[in-house]
Amino acid sequence: MLSLGVNIDHVATIRQARKTVEPDPIAAAVLAELGGADGITVHLREDRRHIQDRDVRILRETVRTHLNLEMAPTEEMVGIALEIKPDYVTLVPEKREEVTTEGGIDIVANLDRFTEVVTKLQSADIPVSWFIDAEEAQIEAAAATKAKFIELHTGKYADAINAQVQAQELADLTRGTEQAIAKGLRVNAGHGLTYWNVYPIACIPGMEELNIGHTIIARAVLVGLERAVKEMKLAMKNQL
Ligand code: PXP
Repeated sequence: MLSLGVNIDHVATIRQARKTVEPDPIAAAVLAELGGADGITVHLREDRRHIQDRDVRILRETVRTHLNLEMAPTEEMVGIALEIKPDYVTLVPEKREEVTTEGGIDIVANLDRFTEVVTKLQSADIPVSWFIDAEEAQIEAAAATKAKFIELHTGKYADAINAQVQAQELADLTRGTEQAIAKGLRVNAGHGLTYWNVYPIACIPGMEELNIGHTIIARAVLVGLERAVKEMKLAMKNQL
């Protein structure tokens, strides 16, 4: 069964717009779970633009499904993950000036250092997922680090300029999933997925979890978070 990880970063984005205490991502996680979320995802960024350290600590206590901590593979973040012990971490590239994560991480160019990061986290029973593009060399490298998961970057699929380009991106993601599974990796996907483009990705054989944030929080502003999550679960089955 395909699961849905709801990324609640943008609840914190609204809070940080005024540096106040509302809306609280902790409450949002409860509502997302009531709506059917199978997991809660947060990205603790180096610049703390949305999620704060306090949020991750409290979510560790309150999340009833599983907590996926997205973070850059830096010493600071590894230290925080070892202390908080999320159910798994997703390692992503991070640039201060970007609006959102702009692409997959380059494992090939950093294989030795990144393998050490995986060893450190997984020795503490924190499974690691690499956020990568569906490229053969990156998938090979992810397997070489002994990580348990990859999360395939669906941004190019989501931003495709026409149906033909989108079909090509979907084919690449399908092939990448197949290659990763053959290498013993478990496969998630995310970034830029919406109520309108999610279904073909949900149909990729072997896909385990989709991590979706912006479109759900955007809809939640209008219809409420519980309903927005319920509707995403329907969209994943083409039943919306
Ligand atoms: N997966 C990863 C690794 C991400 O960095 C993000 C954005 O924080 C998402 C999924 C969710 O993307 P979106 O907000 O576009 O649904």
